[in-house]
Amino acid sequence: MKAIVCNDFGPIDEIDYTEVPDPQAGPGQVVLTTKAIGVNFPDGLLVQGLYQHKPELPFIPGIEVAGVVEAIGDGVSKLKLGDRVLASTMTGGYAEKLCMDAATAITIPDVMSDAHAAVLPCAYGTAHHALKQRGNLQPGETLVVLGAAGGTGLAAVQIGKAMGARVIAVCSDEEKLALAADSGADELINYRKVDLRKSLQSMTNRRGVDVVFDPVGGEAFNQCARAMAWNGRLLVIGFASGDIPQFPVNLSLVKGYSVVGVFWGSFTRYQPADYADNMVELFRWYEQGKVKPLIDKTLPLSSAAEALHRVAQRKVKGKLVLVP
Ligand SMILES: NC(=O)c1ccc[n+]([C@@H]2O[C@H](COP(=O)([O-])OP(=O)(O)OC[C@H]3O[C@@H](n4cnc5c(N)ncnc54)[C@H](OP(=O)(O)O)[C@@H]3O)[C@@H](O)[C@H]2O)c1
Repeated sequence: MKAIVCNDFGPIDEIDYTEVPDPQAGPGQVVLTTKAIGVNFPDGLLVQGLYQHKPELPFIPGIEVAGVVEAIGDGVSKLKLGDRVLASTMTGGYAEKLCMDAATAITIPDVMSDAHAAVLPCAYGTAHHALKQRGNLQPGETLVVLGAAGGTGLAAVQIGKAMGARVIAVCSDEEKLALAADSGADELINYRKVDLRKSLQSMTNRRGVDVVFDPVGGEAFNQCARAMAWNGRLLVIGFASGDIPQFPVNLSLVKGYSVVGVFWGSFTRYQPADYADNMVELFRWYEQGKVKPLIDKTLPLSSAAEALHRVAQRKVKGKLVLVP
């Protein structure tokens, strides 16, 4: 089969589109024919050796795949040939086929396209886990979403609305803000043009915001850390800006709010039952039209390097999908 292989950590352009042996289904496993692959910000960090987790070399990047079961290993009764399933995996997604544990496969609803299924686990799974289990977001609370037209950001806007929050979307240009508004954001801030902290204070009558969803880090985090409400939750998702903020803990004491870390990958492993429940809720919101993935572009698997560059260069709105 063809796959994208990272032979050594380094520049994105050094990943190879090459022939590798087909995977075989061992006991308890299935092999999928890949139909669509979600592209994620961490994929680019991983191949450059910049992610917190470093896989053994060589490896195939890619953490989310929609596919069809084409082979079944011994002892698998839950799935049959031809089933459409979703895989979330540590590595191995950027390939024509993927071997996975059958127990972790999630059946794709008939109403959902392959591309939509492939972009749900990481971006929507992260936003959902962040706002539900980590942020305990309540109806009527104010939710600020940074990078609100990106993969996790747009998901947080839609899920925040589904959970009944008042959503303030924060983006770097008007086109991105318009997308966040299309996804239901109630108020918009262009953080390249206005002072983020002052805008948040004035939009909340100086009360501050209840929950912040922050996949950006850097100066945007620093501004939000000074605009939190009493009992607020500042959710640390990631550092797309490349700047991991240093936090003065006295702010959290004086203003009585929490800084809460979010790590979706570990959540799926430590709390599989909660993860499964979240996916059921996410699929229900999808069927109700409350969750609508935005596919910016679909590219061939061979163009994975171009896709990873587009993400790193801040050019993507919503999600990119690769198709073998
Ligand atoms: N904690 C977890 O479990 C988890 C799960 C998934 C992802 N993440 C992390 O979350 C972060 C965002 O992921 P994502 O999938 O939302 O990425 P994305 O689709 O690329 O969106 C990131 C957004 O960040 C903003 N940004 C600000 N400065 C940037 C810069 N220098 N380069 C690129 N983007 C910049 C951009 O919005 P504006 O242009 O509007 O500012 C962009 O839309 C990454 O660090 C990723 O590793 C964490």
